[in-house]
Amino acid sequence: MQTKVDNQPAVTIHVLSRAAASATQPRLVELLQDAVDNGASVGYLAPLSATDAAGYWAPLIAGLDPAQRRLLVAEIGGTIAGTVQLALETRPNGNHRAEVAKLLVHTEYRRRGVATALMAALEQEARAAGRTLLVLDTQSGEPAEMLYFALGYVLTGSVPGYARNPDGRLAPTSFMYKVLE
Ligand SMILES: CC(C)(COP(=O)(O)OP(=O)(O)OC[C@H]1O[C@@H](n2cnc3c(N)ncnc32)[C@H](O)[C@@H]1OP(=O)(O)O)[C@@H](O)C(=O)NCCC(=O)NCCS
Repeated sequence: MQTKVDNQPAVTIHVLSRAAASATQPRLVELLQDAVDNGASVGYLAPLSATDAAGYWAPLIAGLDPAQRRLLVAEIGGTIAGTVQLALETRPNGNHRAEVAKLLVHTEYRRRGVATALMAALEQEARAAGRTLLVLDTQSGEPAEMLYFALGYVLTGSVPGYARNPDGRLAPTSFMYKVLE
């Protein structure tokens, strides 16, 4: 899937196989470190070491199974600019549902529509997998929440002090959903 933003190189979205993800792991490590070290609340405190970031990606990639999880990346001019995951619920009472996870766009590539392109491709993947409901959580009041509102996600509520910022302060988390028509 290719998206062209005015006067910018095209963004190409790839859904990675386990082998491709493994080859991409060093860049995925950089993306996670860049996000955390620049203040994003995505599970870790800053500064995030390459070892700890690899500790997130290595087992995820080793267990990558398209029936359960799709790993998407956005490529611009041969560089991986961002990533997102679609986690497919497998239990019988929830197999119409999937979760959006670890949407990360490198700071050098933000505000160029990369996340928007990733989320459009993720929705396409979700629909192709027969999913009609997407859910996610994100830190309240942060750019990602604004992006999700812009993409039509609905806020169910915000839990105060749910997770720590990379600097260790507790912050609220918003729980959101989108019904895929
Ligand atoms: C949130 C994030 C993924 C957005 O990526 P991006 O590629 O810059 O987003 P896009 O360029 O597609 O932005 C689309 C829209 O989202 C909103 N948006 C994105 N970043 C924003 C910001 N910093 N402030 C306000 N609105 C913002 C705007 O409506 C924007 O449209 P516009 O640029 O025409 O105004 C990126 O900032 C990021 O990686 N943040 C750190 C990690 C993170 O918080 N991930 C979410 C985990 S749940």
